[in-house]
Amino acid sequence: MRTTVGIIGAGPAGLLLARLLHRAGIDSVVLESRDRAHVEQRQRAGVLEQGTVDALRAAGAGERMDREGLRHDGIELRFDGRRHRVDFPGRTGGRSVTVYAQTEVCKDLIALQLAEGGPLLFEAEALGVEGAESDRPRVRFRRQGTEDELECRYVVGCDGFWGVARKAFPASVTRVFERSYPYAWLGILADVAPSHDELVYARHDRGFALLSLRSPSVSRLYLQVPAATRAEEWTDDRTWTELESRFETRDGWTLRRGPVTQKSVTPMRSFVHEPMRHGRLFLAGDAAHIVPPTGAKGLNLAVGDAITLARALAYEKETDSAALLDAYSATCLRRVWQAERFSYDLTTLLHRAPGATAFDARLQLARLERIASSRAAETDLAEAYTGLWA
Ligand code: APR
Ligand code: PHB
Repeated sequence: MRTTVGIIGAGPAGLLLARLLHRAGIDSVVLESRDRAHVEQRQRAGVLEQGTVDALRAAGAGERMDREGLRHDGIELRFDGRRHRVDFPGRTGGRSVTVYAQTEVCKDLIALQLAEGGPLLFEAEALGVEGAESDRPRVRFRRQGTEDELECRYVVGCDGFWGVARKAFPASVTRVFERSYPYAWLGILADVAPSHDELVYARHDRGFALLSLRSPSVSRLYLQVPAATRAEEWTDDRTWTELESRFETRDGWTLRRGPVTQKSVTPMRSFVHEPMRHGRLFLAGDAAHIVPPTGAKGLNLAVGDAITLARALAYEKETDSAALLDAYSATCLRRVWQAERFSYDLTTLLHRAPGATAFDARLQLARLERIASSRAAETDLAEAYTGLWA
């Protein structure tokens, strides 16, 4: 098999890249190791920055998002029994975010790709990338028990944190920056209307909690738990009771309970692989970087990479100049490190680290108090949350 751009992975990075390339008249083949149902059912994040919304619309993939996505003009910070709302448009000159689940973004992009785009092969597992430094890099893959090769002009690893593309970077050119956190998130999906119409980020002496949503009738909630926790350790009743304590306010706010339909534990990690390009091999999305989920930046970073790379490939096609391709890694890494910084700050602001002292707790409260009482500090949070690029 041959193509211009070989894309490994059909998450948001790979799917949006394929879509944008198709619109630019550049052909591609997407190899995805899992089946379609698995990719469309995975529970992931759900907050889209304005730039992500604009990009999906411009790619012709915004129709259902515009109908079903929910515009959110703020978040609530909850600490010390208090509630503080951050007004996004008021602090950022009009920016907001849209709540629309990542799985729905993927479903929309898959449907478009299958109807109009180049081949999207499910259950096609990339085994390795060869010849990254040559003119014709190749992806070895296995499909229906048979090994095959995809010969390309460029290969893009959009294969997530556990993918294979990164392994084709020689150790001599690679630097990895990493931090794992001594806690994780227990996430539940519940068939109950969200107890608040905006996301609530709660800092409590017992640990962090987050109230989010998937639709007006489905709540998504998270609890900070110790790193090695198994979801089975948390019965529904224990989970709701713990959520209630962490969301508690002095004004008598109540949390609505409902049937839990899904429960899982997500580890927390920061990770950056530099550079994001070697020869004719590029990395995009989680394959190159991970942020802890607190800032809701993972999906938005993946979209940012896909846009930057699609633009660079289209520019090369039109002008024969590789200038934007040469700048790809540095362009993306600037944004990635801003997202790493923001996600780290928000994570350490709101989570209780094991062994945290009373001093640490008071500092967290002072940082929150600062956001609640300073226009400048609140603007800093609102700008980063709604998007680091416009
Ligand atoms: N061959 C083919 N496909 C692969 C391989 C492989 N060897 N390894 C992994 N994949 C596929 C996975 O099955 C998955 O569908 O690559 C895809 C990677 O998708 P994501 O993990 O969704 O990564 P990305 O597109 O970068 O999107 C980042 O996902 O994890 C969340 O929080 C993160 O929201 C962010 C987003
Ligand atoms: C989610 O709805 O899954 C979600 C929302 C906000 C976050 C993280 C996850 O910061």
